[in-house]
Amino acid sequence: MIIERQEDVTQAVLAEMHRTPDARTKEILAALVTHLHAFVRDVKLTEKEFQAAIGLVNAIGQKTTASHNEAMLLSGSLGVSNLVCLLNNGALGTRPTQANNLGPFYRAGAPHSENGSSLLRSPTPGQPLSFKGFVVDEKNHPVADAEVDVWHSSTVGLYENQDPAQADMNLRGKFVTAADGSFSFRSVKPAGYPVPIDGPTGVLLGAQRRHNMRPAHLHFLIYKPGFKTIASQVYDPEDPHLETDSQFAVTKALIGNYTKRGDGSYELEFTFVLEAGEARMPRAPITGKVAAA
Ligand SMILES: [Fe+2]
Repeated sequence: MIIERQEDVTQAVLAEMHRTPDARTKEILAALVTHLHAFVRDVKLTEKEFQAAIGLVNAIGQKTTASHNEAMLLSGSLGVSNLVCLLNNGALGTRPTQANNLGPFYRAGAPHSENGSSLLRSPTPGQPLSFKGFVVDEKNHPVADAEVDVWHSSTVGLYENQDPAQADMNLRGKFVTAADGSFSFRSVKPAGYPVPIDGPTGVLLGAQRRHNMRPAHLHFLIYKPGFKTIASQVYDPEDPHLETDSQFAVTKALIGNYTKRGDGSYELEFTFVLEAGEARMPRAPITGKVAAA
């Protein structure tokens, strides 16, 4: 198609969609082009702004390594990660859900761990925490033999993959639920942490004068054939950044209830509800650990 006016460009691109054999791919690409062109017209994108945007998109890839996933971090910072999660869980977005963002820091291959064992694989500062989780189905029946990956950042504000000072797989473990659907571990009470801002995510947050903190949380990934696999996060109700999470992931259903014991340690119990559905492990956003400088 020969273009005569700016309006013709959209029609020219959409006209090429008819070759796309896969119906879903065709639907997504047609909607993407329609919305993207409408966006460019809506904000009257300048050539300078377009060049800056291209630079940022390229930088997302350049910033991504085996131990860091910038695209996932940025999608969370725009609220897209949690929107996708909430649209695909809780009866397709109609009910509260314990599902939450996988986040950019999940690594596969965490050590298989006995219930009640510790996530600490190198000395880690913090107040002791005993966690007990229950995995149930939608009728509140226990789900036994579910595999539960657990991970969280250290109280210095870094996941082990970001921090050569921590042992490989520190604060990560893989548990299996018992007959009563329970799993348990010991660790340190998580603290809030800053997400990395040395890439495009930092440019975005800086342009909006936003902070880069995440409220303290524990991560979970629960897999059991017959049920929809969910990632989850359980948040600290007293964290000062609960209302302003830089990743827009805090939901009412995921605010935990810590109990402080007389010796200064903490207990936390939480129940995760699985929906019937496809069990499918997500692709891990990172595969390795940063090397010591
Ligand atoms: Fe996290």
